[in-house]
Amino acid sequence: GATLAAGAFAGLAVAGCSTGPPPVRPRPARRPLAIPPLAPTRREAGRRVVDLTAAPGESAFLDGPTTPTWGYGGMPFGGPTIRARRGEDVAVRVTNRLPETTTTHWHGMTLPARMDGGPHQPIAPGDTWEASWRVDQPAATLWYHPHPHGRTERHVHRGLAGLFLVDDDVGVDLPDRYGVDDVPVVLTDRSFAPDGGFDTAHRNAVGLLGDTVLVNGTVAPYLDVRTTRVRLRVLNASPARSYRIALDDPLTLVGTDGGLLPSPRPVPDVLLTPGERAEVVVELAPGRRVVLRSLPDELGAVNGIANAAGGHDTLDLLELRPADRLEPSPAIPATLSRETPLAETDATRTRRFVLSSNRINGLAMDMGRVDEVLDAGATEIWELTNRHTLPHNIHVHDARLQVLGEPAWKDTVPVPPGRTVRLLVRVGPYADPEVPYMLHCHLLRHEDDGMMLQFLVVAPGQRPAAVVSHAHG
Ligand code: C2O
Ligand code: CU
Repeated sequence: GATLAAGAFAGLAVAGCSTGPPPVRPRPARRPLAIPPLAPTRREAGRRVVDLTAAPGESAFLDGPTTPTWGYGGMPFGGPTIRARRGEDVAVRVTNRLPETTTTHWHGMTLPARMDGGPHQPIAPGDTWEASWRVDQPAATLWYHPHPHGRTERHVHRGLAGLFLVDDDVGVDLPDRYGVDDVPVVLTDRSFAPDGGFDTAHRNAVGLLGDTVLVNGTVAPYLDVRTTRVRLRVLNASPARSYRIALDDPLTLVGTDGGLLPSPRPVPDVLLTPGERAEVVVELAPGRRVVLRSLPDELGAVNGIANAAGGHDTLDLLELRPADRLEPSPAIPATLSRETPLAETDATRTRRFVLSSNRINGLAMDMGRVDEVLDAGATEIWELTNRHTLPHNIHVHDARLQVLGEPAWKDTVPVPPGRTVRLLVRVGPYADPEVPYMLHCHLLRHEDDGMMLQFLVVAPGQRPAAVVSHAHG
């Protein structure tokens, strides 16, 4: 199709729920888009070290009462953008100042399982956990968020999420001035209770849906632009809501979850289910405002709110306000990534996963059970079949994915009801016979309900050991 995974969730009816989410409120753009600061880093023994504290805070999203929230790095909500280069050794020291145990997962990162920050690497209140690894993957827009088993939705919904940008030395001439012409766009949605707190009462079968879109934590944002092209790094960090981002003109898609496309691709829109990212380049004319939107039909269908809302308008996400005189940006290069796509002929085996009501292959997540054992570095075919009436998506830790026939690097893929999605999976290089990685639905309520399996990555021929977990309870 013209778009990656386009039409994936189209025409889908999801049963409404009388206590379901209210329609999204239209709010004309009136606040400057907040840009998450870059996380301060320092050199220590040849490593790039980042200190990151998770702590409670107070956020002022609207004009009314403030909202109790959780954030990283001194931000009351969200987190600073961590940035590292391919080839660098990084160490992130996460201190937990929250009243409960959390974890910090590096979503999209290829790294040893002990550093992954999944449910097996808990950080108790007051503790500091150090994750260290060598960044070794192509430039990409990754992110980090909590992953405590059964409580991921709660922790992410409170506000814990940040971007992790990987740079490399390939030297592709795309806009790259952070916050100027290379702009993070972290999409989330929340509803507010009368006392200002986040409303957690309104959910339907896909999870917790809000009536207000926050972009980098800003309600009704605009962005002043002074260049003819701007690159948007869009992350869907919502617990449950999917977006189909579009402009009045076509978007130029340049990258997906795991890095740049082989070449730029004009697309009418891009579907982003929770956890997915897209890098798009938008062309601007002097003084002509354009609005990044999420299209309504798909939203209603995907999120199961069309009926509850009685139909609703297109969601405005971000208004771009170009100056009357614009600095020319370089043309988008015709070649972006020269990485060799995964080849079906390299696949050594096929695995099948059947998605049903918050289960995978009929199983609920068990921290003590190993579900799959993979060879480090292998390429496999995975067939994901959704036998359920609800949409799901599947995120595979550590691995890099391509939907068969689409040369786009992914780590999270939508699997619409009744469909089978065939993936090529490149397993990461790190073997550990004791500590598993996760594969799960990234609709966080589904994940928390147990729609998650564990896999070990071993050296070819190595025997898996029993799962070693440091998590209790
Ligand atoms: Cu973004 Cu297993 O998570
Ligand atoms: Cu799901």
